Amino acid sequence: MRIILLGPPGAGKGTQAQFISQEYDIPQISTGDMLRAAIKEGTELGMQAQGIMNAGGLVSDDLIINLVKERIAKPDCVNGCIFDGFPRTIPQAQALADADVTINHVVEISVPDDEIVKRLSGRRQHAGSGRVYHIDHNPPKVEGIDDVTGEALIQREDDQEATIRERLATYHQQTEALVGFYQDKATEGENAPAYNKFDGTQGIDDVKQQVLTALKG
Ligand code: AP5
Ligand code: ZN
Repeated sequence: MRIILLGPPGAGKGTQAQFISQEYDIPQISTGDMLRAAIKEGTELGMQAQGIMNAGGLVSDDLIINLVKERIAKPDCVNGCIFDGFPRTIPQAQALADADVTINHVVEISVPDDEIVKRLSGRRQHAGSGRVYHIDHNPPKVEGIDDVTGEALIQREDDQEATIRERLATYHQQTEALVGFYQDKATEGENAPAYNKFDGTQGIDDVKQQVLTALKG
């Protein structure tokens, strides 16, 4: 099973990816988490990505496509994977199609811009695993501490209001076109992916139940 999670920053892609990953035992491939790991390790890719990410822009298609191709060739992807934050441009989606990577489901999570700005200021994350929390909507058992490892949670550098607005603008300019791209693909016959859209302003558990039900259908 291969699933694409599509939606603006803060829609809940990472949150729902974790539920789907547990349910189907397939890995979450978050290009954002991979880039943040590269920054932390100080690799060449990380150095190239850091400024772009903190400005709310997109890392180049070539770099991202190579990163994803390497990732999906790993053995843990043999039964499928969840693409979280990829593809983000038409050329990225086209590269996936050209590589004959079959997509079974596209899950769009929709949340209005103003709600996102409010939501992201309360996000906390465990850097090592990418596990996501929210101070009100999904708090850790102990404030500021990851439930699983006991390590400290961080606030992402790009979760400042000005950067969130830039990320939203980038989403509308470069990523939203993928909604039409995959809705069209969904009408293309037998091996076409199913396309489902969810209201991401509902509670985390409500979205989870609806997404998991749709994936079974
Ligand atoms: P990335 O890490 O992918 O960030 P993003 O797309 O901006 O998405 P987020 O991770 O901010 O949000 P999310 O939808 O995962 O929401 P979450 O579940 O965390 O990318 C970062 C940067 O890397 C990009 O800006 C770009 O520069 C670069 N990049 C990455 N991929 C790239 C690519 N393919 N091409 C080029 N550049 C790329 O939830 C958010 C918060 O809300 C959490 O606190 C959560 O607890 C809470 N929450 C979740 N659901 C709900 C709910 N239903 N109700 C209330 N609260 C909720
Ligand atoms: Zn995310």
